[in-house]
Amino acid sequence: MVPPRIFIYSGSCASTSFPHQQAQYCEEDRSLIPKRQMSNLRIRFHVLLLFSSFVILTTSQHDPLKSKQKHVAMFVFGDSLFDPGNNDFLNISVTQGKANFPPYGETFFRYPTGRFCDGRIIPDFTASFTGLPLWRPYLDPANHNLVVGANFASGGACVLVENNPYTLNLQIQLGFFKEVVNLLTQQLGDTDTKKLLREAIYISSLGGVDYMTFATSSSNVTESEMQEYVDIVIGNITEAMKEIYELGGRKFAFQSVGPLGCLPLIRARYNSSGKCVEFLQILATMHNNALAKAAEKLEIKLSGFKYLIFDFFTSLMDRTNNPTKYGFKVGDNACCGGGAYHAGACGWLTEEYELCSDPNEFVFWDADHPTEHCYSQLAQLLWNGTENVTWPLNMKQLYELDIDTELSSQDIDLIAVGK
Ligand SMILES: *[C@@H]1O[C@H](CO)[C@@H](O)[C@H](O)[C@H]1NC(C)=O
Ligand SMILES: *[C@@H]1O[C@H](CO)[C@@H](O)[C@H](O)[C@H]1NC(C)=O
Ligand SMILES: *[C@@H]1O[C@H](CO)[C@@H](O)[C@H](O)[C@H]1NC(C)=O
Ligand SMILES: *[C@@H]1O[C@H](CO)[C@@H](O)[C@H](O)[C@H]1NC(C)=O
Ligand SMILES: *[C@@H]1O[C@H](CO)[C@@H](O)[C@H](O)[C@H]1NC(C)=O
Ligand SMILES: *[C@@H]1O[C@H](CO)[C@@H](O)[C@H](O)[C@H]1NC(C)=O
Repeated sequence: MVPPRIFIYSGSCASTSFPHQQAQYCEEDRSLIPKRQMSNLRIRFHVLLLFSSFVILTTSQHDPLKSKQKHVAMFVFGDSLFDPGNNDFLNISVTQGKANFPPYGETFFRYPTGRFCDGRIIPDFTASFTGLPLWRPYLDPANHNLVVGANFASGGACVLVENNPYTLNLQIQLGFFKEVVNLLTQQLGDTDTKKLLREAIYISSLGGVDYMTFATSSSNVTESEMQEYVDIVIGNITEAMKEIYELGGRKFAFQSVGPLGCLPLIRARYNSSGKCVEFLQILATMHNNALAKAAEKLEIKLSGFKYLIFDFFTSLMDRTNNPTKYGFKVGDNACCGGGAYHAGACGWLTEEYELCSDPNEFVFWDADHPTEHCYSQLAQLLWNGTENVTWPLNMKQLYELDIDTELSSQDIDLIAVGK
Protein backbone atom coordinates (compact mmCIF):
# COMPACT_ATOMS: atom_id res chain seq x y z
CA MET A 1 0.00 0.00 0.00
CA VAL A 2 1.06 3.56 -0.67
CA PRO A 3 2.21 5.21 2.54
CA PRO A 4 -0.37 7.44 4.17
CA ARG A 5 -0.31 11.18 3.88
CA ILE A 6 0.71 12.74 7.17
CA PHE A 7 -0.51 16.15 8.25
CA ILE A 8 0.81 18.21 11.10
CA TYR A 9 -1.09 21.18 12.38
CA SER A 10 0.87 23.65 14.45
CA GLY A 11 -1.81 26.05 15.60
CA SER A 12 -3.10 26.20 19.13
CA CYS A 13 -5.42 23.35 19.91
CA ALA A 14 -7.61 22.67 22.86
CA SER A 15 -8.50 19.24 24.08
CA THR A 16 -12.22 18.72 24.38
CA SER A 17 -14.36 15.69 24.22
CA PHE A 18 -17.59 15.44 22.33
CA PRO A 19 -19.54 12.35 23.25
CA HIS A 20 -19.73 11.18 19.68
CA GLN A 21 -16.17 11.96 18.72
CA GLN A 22 -13.68 11.93 21.54
CA ALA A 23 -10.79 13.72 19.96
CA GLN A 24 -8.54 16.73 19.90
CA TYR A 25 -9.66 19.73 17.97
CA CYS A 26 -8.92 23.43 17.91
CA GLU A 27 -11.50 25.80 19.26
CA GLU A 28 -11.68 27.62 15.99
CA ASP A 29 -14.61 27.82 13.71
CA ARG A 30 -15.20 29.65 10.53
CA SER A 31 -18.82 29.19 9.76
CA LEU A 32 -20.78 30.05 12.86
CA ILE A 33 -24.12 31.65 12.38
CA PRO A 34 -24.72 34.03 15.26
CA LYS A 35 -27.63 32.84 17.33
CA ARG A 36 -29.09 36.33 17.29
CA GLN A 37 -29.55 35.92 13.54
CA MET A 38 -31.02 32.46 13.64
CA SER A 39 -34.62 33.61 13.88
CA ASN A 40 -34.08 36.09 11.07
CA LEU A 41 -32.61 33.33 9.05
CA ARG A 42 -35.59 31.08 9.60
CA ILE A 43 -37.99 33.80 8.52
CA ARG A 44 -36.01 34.66 5.41
CA PHE A 45 -35.73 31.00 4.69
CA HIS A 46 -39.47 30.53 4.77
CA VAL A 47 -40.13 33.50 2.55
CA LEU A 48 -37.56 32.31 0.05
CA LEU A 49 -38.96 28.87 0.23
CA LEU A 50 -42.48 29.94 -0.55
CA PHE A 51 -41.32 32.11 -3.37
CA SER A 52 -39.06 29.59 -5.03
CA SER A 53 -41.54 26.76 -4.73
CA PHE A 54 -44.07 28.97 -6.42
CA VAL A 55 -41.59 29.48 -9.24
CA ILE A 56 -40.97 25.77 -9.48
CA LEU A 57 -44.62 24.83 -9.50
CA THR A 58 -45.61 27.43 -12.05
CA THR A 59 -42.70 27.25 -14.48
CA SER A 60 -41.23 23.76 -14.32
CA GLN A 61 -41.82 21.43 -17.24
CA HIS A 62 -41.08 18.54 -14.95
CA ASP A 63 -43.32 19.12 -11.99
CA PRO A 64 -42.96 15.76 -10.29
CA LEU A 65 -46.48 15.89 -8.89
CA LYS A 66 -47.98 16.31 -12.33
CA SER A 67 -45.67 14.06 -14.34
CA LYS A 68 -46.49 10.42 -15.00
CA GLN A 69 -43.25 9.24 -13.37
CA LYS A 70 -43.74 8.11 -9.79
CA HIS A 71 -42.76 10.83 -7.37
CA VAL A 72 -41.84 9.71 -3.89
CA ALA A 73 -40.53 12.38 -1.55
CA MET A 74 -38.19 11.42 1.26
CA PHE A 75 -37.87 12.75 4.78
CA VAL A 76 -34.64 11.95 6.57
CA PHE A 77 -34.24 11.84 10.35
CA GLY A 78 -31.08 10.90 12.16
CA ASP A 79 -27.55 11.44 13.34
CA SER A 80 -24.17 11.95 11.67
CA LEU A 81 -24.67 8.86 9.52
CA PHE A 82 -27.42 10.75 7.64
CA ASP A 83 -26.43 14.43 8.20
CA PRO A 84 -25.81 16.26 4.89
CA GLY A 85 -24.44 19.33 6.72
CA ASN A 86 -27.20 20.65 8.97
CA ASN A 87 -24.71 21.17 11.78
CA ASP A 88 -22.86 23.75 9.68
CA PHE A 89 -25.84 26.02 10.26
CA LEU A 90 -25.83 25.71 14.05
CA ASN A 91 -24.02 28.01 16.41
CA ILE A 92 -21.83 25.24 17.77
CA SER A 93 -18.11 24.72 17.78
CA VAL A 94 -16.35 22.07 15.77
CA THR A 95 -15.87 20.02 18.93
CA GLN A 96 -19.62 19.91 19.36
CA GLY A 97 -20.04 18.21 15.99
CA LYS A 98 -19.04 19.61 12.64
CA ALA A 99 -17.28 18.16 9.64
CA ASN A 100 -16.76 21.40 7.75
CA PHE A 101 -13.05 21.12 7.09
CA PRO A 102 -10.79 19.08 4.81
CA PRO A 103 -10.30 16.25 4.16
CA TYR A 104 -14.04 15.62 4.74
CA GLY A 105 -15.75 15.49 1.37
CA GLU A 106 -12.53 15.02 -0.60
CA THR A 107 -13.56 11.94 -2.58
CA PHE A 108 -16.77 13.03 -4.22
CA PHE A 109 -17.53 16.68 -3.60
CA ARG A 110 -13.87 17.78 -3.43
CA TYR A 111 -14.75 20.13 -0.60
CA PRO A 112 -16.23 19.68 2.87
CA THR A 113 -20.04 19.69 2.83
CA GLY A 114 -20.61 19.00 6.50
CA ARG A 115 -21.11 15.29 5.80
CA PHE A 116 -19.15 13.08 8.20
CA CYS A 117 -17.64 11.15 5.32
CA ASP A 118 -15.18 11.46 2.44
CA GLY A 119 -18.13 11.62 0.04
CA ARG A 120 -21.79 10.71 -0.25
CA ILE A 121 -23.76 9.07 2.54
CA ILE A 122 -26.56 6.48 2.46
CA PRO A 123 -29.45 8.98 2.06
CA ASP A 124 -27.66 10.48 -0.96
CA PHE A 125 -27.54 7.08 -2.65
CA THR A 126 -31.12 6.19 -1.81
CA ALA A 127 -32.24 9.58 -3.11
CA SER A 128 -30.43 9.00 -6.38
CA PHE A 129 -32.01 5.53 -6.73
CA THR A 130 -35.42 7.19 -6.64
CA GLY A 131 -34.53 10.06 -8.94
CA LEU A 132 -34.15 12.70 -6.22
CA PRO A 133 -31.16 15.07 -6.04
CA LEU A 134 -28.33 14.83 -3.50
CA TRP A 135 -29.39 16.21 -0.14
CA ARG A 136 -28.97 19.75 0.93
CA PRO A 137 -29.32 20.42 4.64
CA TYR A 138 -32.79 21.45 5.74
CA LEU A 139 -31.21 24.38 7.59
CA ASP A 140 -29.41 25.59 4.46
CA PRO A 141 -31.11 28.87 3.48
CA ALA A 142 -30.47 27.92 -0.15
CA ASN A 143 -32.51 24.74 0.22
CA HIS A 144 -35.83 25.60 -1.34
CA ASN A 145 -37.42 22.57 -2.88
CA LEU A 146 -39.50 20.79 -0.26
CA VAL A 147 -41.41 18.84 -2.89
CA VAL A 148 -38.53 16.33 -2.87
CA GLY A 149 -38.67 16.09 0.92
CA ALA A 150 -36.17 17.26 3.49
CA ASN A 151 -33.19 16.02 5.45
CA PHE A 152 -33.21 17.00 9.13
CA ALA A 153 -30.39 14.72 10.33
CA SER A 154 -27.74 16.20 12.56
CA GLY A 155 -24.37 14.82 13.68
CA GLY A 156 -24.49 13.90 17.34
CA ALA A 157 -28.29 13.92 17.35
CA CYS A 158 -29.89 11.95 20.14
CA VAL A 159 -33.29 10.45 20.65
CA LEU A 160 -33.34 11.46 24.31
CA VAL A 161 -33.32 15.24 24.66
CA GLU A 162 -31.02 15.23 27.68
CA ASN A 163 -28.15 13.48 25.91
CA ASN A 164 -26.74 16.23 23.71
CA PRO A 165 -27.84 19.85 23.96
CA TYR A 166 -25.84 21.01 20.95
CA THR A 167 -27.37 19.40 17.90
CA LEU A 168 -30.82 18.65 16.52
CA ASN A 169 -32.34 15.93 18.66
CA LEU A 170 -35.30 13.88 17.42
CA GLN A 171 -37.84 16.28 18.98
CA ILE A 172 -36.33 19.24 17.11
CA GLN A 173 -36.21 17.27 13.87
CA LEU A 174 -39.85 16.35 14.34
CA GLY A 175 -40.65 20.03 14.91
CA PHE A 176 -38.98 20.89 11.61
CA PHE A 177 -41.01 18.21 9.88
CA LYS A 178 -44.23 19.76 11.18
CA GLU A 179 -43.01 23.10 9.85
CA VAL A 180 -42.52 21.47 6.44
CA VAL A 181 -46.02 19.98 6.52
CA ASN A 182 -47.45 23.48 7.09
CA LEU A 183 -45.36 25.02 4.34
CA LEU A 184 -46.28 22.31 1.86
CA THR A 185 -49.95 22.72 2.72
CA GLN A 186 -49.67 26.43 1.96
CA GLN A 187 -47.91 25.74 -1.32
CA LEU A 188 -49.69 22.70 -2.69
CA GLY A 189 -52.99 22.69 -0.87
CA ASP A 190 -54.37 20.00 1.35
CA THR A 191 -55.01 17.23 -1.14
CA ASP A 192 -51.63 17.27 -2.88
CA THR A 193 -49.81 17.60 0.43
CA LYS A 194 -51.65 14.63 1.90
CA LYS A 195 -50.81 12.59 -1.20
CA LEU A 196 -47.16 13.63 -1.04
CA LEU A 197 -46.91 12.76 2.67
CA ARG A 198 -48.70 9.44 2.23
CA GLU A 199 -46.43 8.31 -0.59
CA ALA A 200 -43.21 9.65 0.93
CA ILE A 201 -40.55 7.50 2.57
CA TYR A 202 -39.50 8.37 6.13
CA ILE A 203 -36.00 7.09 6.67
CA SER A 204 -34.22 7.21 10.00
CA SER A 205 -30.93 6.37 11.67
CA LEU A 206 -31.46 6.89 15.38
CA GLY A 207 -30.14 5.73 18.73
CA GLY A 208 -26.40 5.26 18.12
CA VAL A 209 -25.41 8.47 19.87
CA ASP A 210 -27.65 7.72 22.83
CA TYR A 211 -25.88 4.41 23.35
CA MET A 212 -22.42 5.91 22.93
CA THR A 213 -23.38 8.49 25.55
CA PHE A 214 -24.78 5.81 27.81
CA ALA A 215 -21.61 3.73 27.46
CA THR A 216 -19.42 6.72 28.30
CA SER A 217 -21.35 7.66 31.40
CA SER A 218 -21.99 4.17 32.73
CA SER A 219 -19.14 1.71 32.56
CA ASN A 220 -20.57 -0.98 34.79
CA VAL A 221 -24.22 -1.56 34.02
CA THR A 222 -26.38 -4.62 34.38
CA GLU A 223 -28.32 -6.11 31.52
CA SER A 224 -31.61 -4.98 33.06
CA GLU A 225 -30.31 -1.38 33.27
CA MET A 226 -29.40 -1.63 29.60
CA GLN A 227 -32.83 -2.96 28.75
CA GLU A 228 -34.47 -0.14 30.69
CA TYR A 229 -32.49 2.42 28.73
CA VAL A 230 -33.25 0.70 25.41
CA ASP A 231 -36.97 0.77 26.24
CA ILE A 232 -36.87 4.54 26.83
CA VAL A 233 -35.05 5.15 23.55
CA ILE A 234 -37.41 2.88 21.62
CA GLY A 235 -40.41 4.45 23.39
CA ASN A 236 -39.39 7.88 22.13
CA ILE A 237 -38.72 6.66 18.59
CA THR A 238 -42.12 4.95 18.58
CA GLU A 239 -43.86 8.14 19.73
CA ALA A 240 -42.14 10.16 17.00
CA MET A 241 -43.11 7.67 14.30
CA LYS A 242 -46.71 7.71 15.49
CA GLU A 243 -46.73 11.49 15.13
CA ILE A 244 -45.41 11.20 11.59
CA TYR A 245 -48.10 8.63 10.89
CA GLU A 246 -50.78 10.98 12.27
CA LEU A 247 -49.52 13.64 9.86
CA GLY A 248 -49.93 11.21 6.97
CA GLY A 249 -46.72 9.17 6.84
CA ARG A 250 -47.12 5.53 5.81
CA LYS A 251 -43.76 4.25 4.52
CA PHE A 252 -41.03 3.96 7.13
CA ALA A 253 -37.44 2.80 6.62
CA PHE A 254 -35.49 2.14 9.80
CA GLN A 255 -31.76 1.69 9.74
CA SER A 256 -30.62 -0.41 12.69
CA VAL A 257 -27.98 0.88 15.08
CA GLY A 258 -24.51 -0.09 13.83
CA PRO A 259 -21.91 -2.39 15.38
CA LEU A 260 -20.90 0.21 17.96
CA GLY A 261 -18.36 -2.06 19.62
CA CYS A 262 -16.47 -2.47 16.33
CA LEU A 263 -15.97 1.23 15.57
CA PRO A 264 -12.31 2.33 15.52
CA LEU A 265 -13.26 4.88 18.19
CA ILE A 266 -14.49 2.18 20.54
CA ARG A 267 -11.79 -0.36 19.72
CA ALA A 268 -9.24 2.29 20.68
CA ARG A 269 -11.08 3.59 23.73
CA TYR A 270 -11.46 0.13 25.25
CA ASN A 271 -8.08 -1.14 24.05
CA SER A 272 -9.86 -4.12 22.61
CA SER A 273 -6.82 -5.83 21.04
CA GLY A 274 -8.52 -6.32 17.71
CA LYS A 275 -11.88 -7.53 18.94
CA CYS A 276 -15.20 -5.72 18.92
CA VAL A 277 -16.19 -4.50 22.38
CA GLU A 278 -18.85 -6.92 23.57
CA PHE A 279 -20.85 -4.68 25.89
CA LEU A 280 -21.58 -2.15 23.16
CA GLN A 281 -22.39 -4.91 20.70
CA ILE A 282 -24.94 -6.25 23.17
CA LEU A 283 -26.44 -2.81 23.71
CA ALA A 284 -26.81 -2.24 19.96
CA THR A 285 -28.32 -5.70 19.50
CA MET A 286 -30.83 -5.11 22.29
CA HIS A 287 -31.87 -1.89 20.60
CA ASN A 288 -32.17 -3.51 17.19
CA ASN A 289 -34.28 -6.38 18.54
CA ALA A 290 -36.54 -3.92 20.34
CA LEU A 291 -36.80 -1.78 17.21
CA ALA A 292 -37.94 -4.77 15.16
CA LYS A 293 -40.60 -5.58 17.75
CA ALA A 294 -41.75 -1.96 17.98
CA ALA A 295 -42.08 -1.66 14.20
CA GLU A 296 -44.04 -4.90 14.04
CA LYS A 297 -46.42 -3.59 16.70
CA LEU A 298 -46.90 -0.32 14.86
CA GLU A 299 -47.79 -2.21 11.69
CA ILE A 300 -50.46 -4.14 13.56
CA LYS A 301 -51.82 -1.09 15.35
CA LEU A 302 -51.75 1.53 12.59
CA SER A 303 -53.71 0.83 9.45
CA GLY A 304 -51.60 1.17 6.31
CA PHE A 305 -48.29 1.50 8.22
CA LYS A 306 -45.55 -0.09 6.12
CA TYR A 307 -41.91 -0.43 7.11
CA LEU A 308 -38.56 -1.98 6.56
CA ILE A 309 -35.61 -2.55 8.83
CA PHE A 310 -32.19 -2.40 7.25
CA ASP A 311 -29.64 -4.52 9.09
CA PHE A 312 -26.89 -1.92 9.13
CA PHE A 313 -25.43 -3.68 12.20
CA THR A 314 -24.64 -6.98 10.51
CA SER A 315 -23.76 -5.50 7.12
CA LEU A 316 -21.17 -3.13 8.59
CA MET A 317 -19.85 -5.64 11.12
CA ASP A 318 -19.26 -8.19 8.37
CA ARG A 319 -17.28 -5.60 6.40
CA THR A 320 -15.13 -4.51 9.32
CA ASN A 321 -14.38 -8.12 10.28
CA ASN A 322 -13.97 -9.52 6.74
CA PRO A 323 -12.89 -6.53 4.64
CA THR A 324 -11.34 -8.45 1.76
CA LYS A 325 -14.58 -10.35 1.16
CA TYR A 326 -16.06 -7.02 0.05
CA GLY A 327 -13.09 -5.58 -1.81
CA PHE A 328 -11.59 -3.56 1.04
CA LYS A 329 -8.03 -3.80 2.31
CA VAL A 330 -8.55 -2.46 5.84
CA GLY A 331 -11.53 -3.10 8.09
CA ASP A 332 -10.51 -1.99 11.57
CA ASN A 333 -8.35 1.14 11.21
CA ALA A 334 -9.90 4.36 9.96
CA CYS A 335 -8.58 5.96 6.78
CA CYS A 336 -8.22 9.33 8.43
CA GLY A 337 -7.13 10.03 11.99
CA GLY A 338 -4.31 9.68 14.50
CA GLY A 339 -3.20 7.11 17.04
CA ALA A 340 -4.43 3.56 17.60
CA TYR A 341 -6.90 2.46 14.93
CA HIS A 342 -6.59 6.03 13.59
CA ALA A 343 -9.36 6.77 16.05
CA GLY A 344 -8.07 10.27 16.83
CA ALA A 345 -9.59 13.26 15.09
CA CYS A 346 -9.38 13.57 11.32
CA GLY A 347 -8.76 16.94 9.75
CA TRP A 348 -6.62 20.01 9.62
CA LEU A 349 -7.75 21.18 13.04
CA THR A 350 -5.94 18.36 14.78
CA GLU A 351 -2.36 18.36 15.88
CA GLU A 352 -1.44 15.42 13.73
CA TYR A 353 -3.30 12.87 11.74
CA GLU A 354 -2.76 10.45 8.92
CA LEU A 355 -4.84 10.19 5.82
CA CYS A 356 -4.79 7.00 3.76
CA SER A 357 -3.98 7.36 0.10
CA ASP A 358 -7.11 5.57 -1.12
CA PRO A 359 -10.26 5.80 1.03
CA ASN A 360 -11.91 3.19 -1.21
CA GLU A 361 -9.66 0.56 0.40
CA PHE A 362 -11.08 1.31 3.84
CA VAL A 363 -14.36 0.40 5.53
CA PHE A 364 -14.04 3.35 7.92
CA TRP A 365 -13.33 6.92 6.92
CA ASP A 366 -12.86 8.28 10.44
CA ALA A 367 -13.20 6.99 13.99
CA ASP A 368 -16.92 6.33 13.76
CA HIS A 369 -18.10 6.77 10.17
CA PRO A 370 -17.80 4.53 7.11
CA THR A 371 -16.26 5.65 3.82
CA GLU A 372 -18.35 6.58 0.82
CA HIS A 373 -17.29 3.33 -0.81
CA CYS A 374 -18.65 1.34 2.12
CA TYR A 375 -21.83 3.44 2.19
CA SER A 376 -22.42 2.80 -1.51
CA GLN A 377 -22.38 -0.96 -0.90
CA LEU A 378 -24.70 -0.62 2.10
CA ALA A 379 -27.09 1.66 0.25
CA GLN A 380 -27.30 -0.90 -2.54
CA LEU A 381 -28.21 -3.56 0.03
CA LEU A 382 -30.84 -1.31 1.57
CA TRP A 383 -32.28 -0.63 -1.88
CA ASN A 384 -32.57 -4.13 -3.29
CA GLY A 385 -31.02 -6.49 -0.74
CA THR A 386 -32.46 -9.89 0.11
CA GLU A 387 -34.74 -10.47 3.09
CA ASN A 388 -31.91 -11.43 5.45
CA VAL A 389 -30.52 -7.87 5.15
CA THR A 390 -33.63 -5.74 4.84
CA TRP A 391 -37.03 -6.99 5.91
CA PRO A 392 -39.96 -7.41 5.58
CA LEU A 393 -39.34 -5.29 2.48
CA ASN A 394 -36.36 -3.68 0.81
CA MET A 395 -36.46 -0.03 -0.08
CA LYS A 396 -37.25 -0.62 -3.73
CA GLN A 397 -40.35 -2.56 -2.71
CA LEU A 398 -41.30 0.10 -0.18
CA TYR A 399 -40.84 2.75 -2.86
CA GLU A 400 -42.98 0.88 -5.35
CA LEU A 401 -45.79 0.13 -2.90
CA ASP A 402 -48.99 1.82 -3.92
CA ILE A 403 -50.33 2.98 -0.58
CA ASP A 404 -53.80 3.80 -1.91
CA THR A 405 -54.22 0.34 -3.38
CA GLU A 406 -52.90 -1.12 -0.13
CA LEU A 407 -55.40 0.89 1.85
CA SER A 408 -58.37 -0.01 -0.26
CA SER A 409 -57.53 -3.72 -0.26
CA GLN A 410 -57.22 -3.52 3.53
CA ASP A 411 -60.58 -1.83 3.74
CA ILE A 412 -62.03 -4.57 1.60
CA ASP A 413 -60.53 -7.16 3.96
CA LEU A 414 -62.06 -5.34 6.91
CA ILE A 415 -65.43 -5.24 5.22
CA ALA A 416 -65.09 -8.93 4.38
CA VAL A 417 -64.59 -9.87 8.02
CA GLY A 418 -67.42 -7.63 9.04
CA LYS A 419 -65.48 -4.94 10.97
C1 LIG B 1 -22.80 31.13 19.97
O1 LIG B 1 -22.60 30.21 21.02
C2 LIG B 1 -21.64 30.63 21.98
C3 LIG B 1 -21.39 29.48 22.93
O2 LIG B 1 -22.59 28.96 23.43
C4 LIG B 1 -22.15 31.88 22.69
O3 LIG B 1 -21.21 32.33 23.64
C5 LIG B 1 -22.35 32.96 21.65
O4 LIG B 1 -22.92 34.10 22.25
C6 LIG B 1 -23.27 32.46 20.54
N1 LIG B 1 -23.28 33.46 19.47
C7 LIG B 1 -24.35 34.16 19.18
C8 LIG B 1 -24.15 35.24 18.21
O5 LIG B 1 -25.42 33.94 19.71
C1 LIG C 1 -19.83 -3.99 38.58
O1 LIG C 1 -21.06 -4.35 39.15
C2 LIG C 1 -21.04 -5.63 39.81
C3 LIG C 1 -22.46 -5.98 40.22
O2 LIG C 1 -23.21 -4.84 40.54
C4 LIG C 1 -20.09 -5.54 41.00
O3 LIG C 1 -20.03 -6.79 41.65
C5 LIG C 1 -18.70 -5.16 40.48
O4 LIG C 1 -17.82 -4.98 41.58
C6 LIG C 1 -18.75 -3.88 39.67
N1 LIG C 1 -17.46 -3.64 39.05
C7 LIG C 1 -16.88 -2.45 39.05
C8 LIG C 1 -15.56 -2.38 38.35
O5 LIG C 1 -17.38 -1.46 39.57
C1 LIG D 1 -38.82 9.53 26.29
O1 LIG D 1 -37.63 9.90 26.92
C2 LIG D 1 -37.78 10.51 28.19
C3 LIG D 1 -36.39 10.91 28.64
O2 LIG D 1 -35.87 11.86 27.74
C4 LIG D 1 -38.47 9.56 29.15
O3 LIG D 1 -38.67 10.18 30.37
C5 LIG D 1 -39.79 9.12 28.55
O4 LIG D 1 -40.37 8.16 29.39
C6 LIG D 1 -39.57 8.54 27.18
N1 LIG D 1 -40.86 8.24 26.56
C7 LIG D 1 -41.27 7.01 26.29
C8 LIG D 1 -42.62 6.90 25.65
O5 LIG D 1 -40.60 6.05 26.53
C1 LIG E 1 -3.65 -2.20 25.72
O1 LIG E 1 -3.46 -3.59 25.89
C2 LIG E 1 -2.14 -4.01 25.66
C3 LIG E 1 -2.07 -5.52 25.80
O2 LIG E 1 -3.32 -6.12 25.83
C4 LIG E 1 -1.19 -3.32 26.65
O3 LIG E 1 0.13 -3.69 26.35
C5 LIG E 1 -1.37 -1.82 26.55
O4 LIG E 1 -0.59 -1.18 27.51
C6 LIG E 1 -2.80 -1.42 26.72
N1 LIG E 1 -2.95 0.01 26.47
C7 LIG E 1 -3.74 0.78 27.20
C8 LIG E 1 -3.79 2.21 26.79
O5 LIG E 1 -4.40 0.37 28.12
C1 LIG F 1 -29.49 -5.12 -6.92
O1 LIG F 1 -29.19 -4.33 -8.02
C2 LIG F 1 -27.89 -4.51 -8.54
C3 LIG F 1 -27.68 -3.54 -9.68
O2 LIG F 1 -27.95 -2.27 -9.29
C4 LIG F 1 -27.71 -5.93 -9.03
O3 LIG F 1 -26.39 -6.12 -9.45
C5 LIG F 1 -28.03 -6.89 -7.89
O4 LIG F 1 -28.01 -8.21 -8.35
C6 LIG F 1 -29.40 -6.60 -7.30
N1 LIG F 1 -29.59 -7.45 -6.14
C7 LIG F 1 -30.71 -8.12 -5.94
C8 LIG F 1 -30.76 -8.93 -4.66
O5 LIG F 1 -31.64 -8.08 -6.70
C1 LIG G 1 -28.09 -13.08 2.75
O1 LIG G 1 -28.38 -14.07 1.82
C2 LIG G 1 -27.58 -14.08 0.67
C3 LIG G 1 -28.04 -15.16 -0.27
O2 LIG G 1 -29.42 -15.12 -0.41
C4 LIG G 1 -26.11 -14.28 1.05
O3 LIG G 1 -25.30 -14.17 -0.10
C5 LIG G 1 -25.70 -13.22 2.05
O4 LIG G 1 -24.40 -13.47 2.52
C6 LIG G 1 -26.65 -13.18 3.23
N1 LIG G 1 -26.32 -12.07 4.05
C7 LIG G 1 -26.29 -12.11 5.37
C8 LIG G 1 -25.93 -10.85 6.08
O5 LIG G 1 -26.55 -13.11 6.00
